[in-house]
Amino acid sequence: MTTSSGLGSRSSELPKEQWVIDPETGEKSVKVGDINFPPRKVWMKTFGCQMNYHDTERVLSHLEGLNFTKTEDQGDADLVLFNTCAIRDLSNQKFYSKLGDTQHLKKKNPNVKVGVGGCVAQTEGKELINKYKHLDFSFGTDVIDTINELVYRSYAGEDPFAINTWDRSQNFSIETKVTHGSPQAFVNIIKGCNKCCSYCIVPFTRGKEKSRLLQEVVDDCRKLVEYQGIQEITLLGQNVNSYGKENGESLAKLITELDKINGLELIRYTTSHPYDVSDELIEVHGSAKKLSRHLHLPVQSGSNSCLERMLREYTVEHYLGLLEKLRKAKPDIVLSTDIIAGFVNETEEEHQATLDLLTEAQYDFIYSYAYSQRAKTRASRWEDSLTDDVRGMRLREIQAHQTVIQENIRQTLVGKKFTVLVDGHGFKGGDKKWKGRTNCMRIVHFLPENIEQDLQWHWVDVELTSATAFSCQAKLLKVHGRRMPSEAIRF
Ligand code: SAH
Ligand code: SF4
Ligand code: F3S
Repeated sequence: MTTSSGLGSRSSELPKEQWVIDPETGEKSVKVGDINFPPRKVWMKTFGCQMNYHDTERVLSHLEGLNFTKTEDQGDADLVLFNTCAIRDLSNQKFYSKLGDTQHLKKKNPNVKVGVGGCVAQTEGKELINKYKHLDFSFGTDVIDTINELVYRSYAGEDPFAINTWDRSQNFSIETKVTHGSPQAFVNIIKGCNKCCSYCIVPFTRGKEKSRLLQEVVDDCRKLVEYQGIQEITLLGQNVNSYGKENGESLAKLITELDKINGLELIRYTTSHPYDVSDELIEVHGSAKKLSRHLHLPVQSGSNSCLERMLREYTVEHYLGLLEKLRKAKPDIVLSTDIIAGFVNETEEEHQATLDLLTEAQYDFIYSYAYSQRAKTRASRWEDSLTDDVRGMRLREIQAHQTVIQENIRQTLVGKKFTVLVDGHGFKGGDKKWKGRTNCMRIVHFLPENIEQDLQWHWVDVELTSATAFSCQAKLLKVHGRRMPSEAIRF
């Protein structure tokens, strides 16, 4: 038997769900076996990467089948869930402090259930259950699609339990479900990671790589575009460049197919590993009309000796060669990266090499982090001479260096036109300003023609009027509407 929402391929022990309507009150409830699920509220907090946010959407969408609706107010919730991240110590700490807060919820209302999912639950689920007596269950990253069964078991009165098994089915097969009513969707194409970067916990929290079949992804995306009004798709995976290897398929082939879907405007993908960037993929950056002009290509360090200790499988020269080829294939491509400051035993020269790489690469923006030791990883077994003070200092130096670079890049954009999909608004100095992202991932803010104008999820053209390292201001030139007219020029 499969879960009723039909999202996953995992089989489930859940008895058949039956919707019942009370003839007197008109209230809808779901009967599962002997258990009745009246309308209930679920509150879910997500930490970590886009994959986790995507998983949260899946969980919430499954839970609709057990009569749960989402609430933003934790105090109003019957079921409180966390989707956790283990990538750095700071991510863990944020979760633990929020988890502590839930103890009083349970004291106030003992019927509230608390569950923990995601990457911390995958590696430490059993310890969590033993340590935090108010927890009802924990669920790892590979059992997301059995969430209804786990919630059912908890409501059936089972003692607190932790599930972190890996899905043994041969194929990774899912159907994307969007619940938020926006024209943007994340589509998971590959799960897990077969790399073994010496600092990284992800292979332990997400397991081995498994790709969906190309045809399944294409059909899934076509349906999202045709029936759900999706116009922008971000292909997701821990290492999307490795997509399809086991099936003789590739990311380049997938993008080429998706590029043909009528009504789809923009394709993005994240995250990439430089080792797996093929010449075929670089060519596709030049040829695919709908592929974003932005590419996030994490480098981590600008020093070959450091990259070797990180087990990244490429050299600085190889990496810079990739940037050169990408810029040749797509001259206006915009690049960004991830940097780890103060990796184990990083020398001053190695750190300087990273600053030099930033100068050479000319990234539009970077994400940078101080190295954080993670249990189970190879690097955690090594003696480390660096102090947190040095790491912090190097991180600040990296960020200051990059700020100057990106400020200079952004100055050159003033006067240029961009097509933007508007995704929100805010108030600055009493003015309502709309905000959106360009094709190349830059966030721009602009004033509407008048205060009443509602531009949410509209495509608009803007011209950049000023820019700093971290924000771009623009003036509105043209409103295309919620759909881009086919003849319109896309900037
Ligand atoms: N799969 C992606 C990203 C994974 S995590 C990739 O390979 O690029 C996102 C970023 O977190 C990494 O790129 C890295 O810069 C950072 N990161 C991972 N482990 C870390 C650690 N132990 N300490 C500090 N930063 C880390
Ligand atoms: Fe972690 Fe490396 Fe895999 Fe990225 S490629 S998820 S950094 S092990
Ligand atoms: Fe964090 Fe897990 Fe993503 S460790 S970064 S939530 S894959």
